Amino acid sequence: TPDKAPPRKGDILVHAGAGKEGQPILVSEVGEKAVSAWPMGKDKDGNMVIRKAEPNNQMAVFRFDKDKFKVPEEGGHSPVVLKLEGITDNGIVAYSNKCTHAGCPPPNDPKDITKLFCGCHSGQYDLLQGCKVIGGPPPRSMPQVPIKIENNQLVVTETFVTAPFGFLNEADWEAYLKRV
Ligand code: FES
Repeated sequence: TPDKAPPRKGDILVHAGAGKEGQPILVSEVGEKAVSAWPMGKDKDGNMVIRKAEPNNQMAVFRFDKDKFKVPEEGGHSPVVLKLEGITDNGIVAYSNKCTHAGCPPPNDPKDITKLFCGCHSGQYDLLQGCKVIGGPPPRSMPQVPIKIENNQLVVTETFVTAPFGFLNEADWEAYLKRV
């Protein structure tokens, strides 16, 4: 069903947090601290659907100032992934926010805003390196969603992609390479 589909090209990211749920996330609302998001797009009849029935679609969006941080456009990603249009835009990155260990939603690490710290079992992810695992038990990175800014909103340019360390297995990665 469309509400279980992964993010699709052309979807926009909307707030998942109470109070603004379902409203488009504006560029000005994104900063170094996580903003909870879901993808919203059209079903086959053209109606807008929030794709919130798939747990992996629970996302978090961040913006890191390029002058202050080494954002993913400048490093940390496979050159193959960089071939995709708009993996980040103006320092904004979007990732799934379901820990790949046991599914908790990790917030920013209070000791380092560029990392996530999963309080469930001390998993750590690096937001500036494709959300790769840098500590604890998670088996792989949380997938990234390439986005671009359009009309002050965040538009998905490709479904979940990530660097090779994030793929489930080599076959997935080989299939991905053929596609880009
Ligand atoms: Fe995140 Fe276990 S659920 S480390």
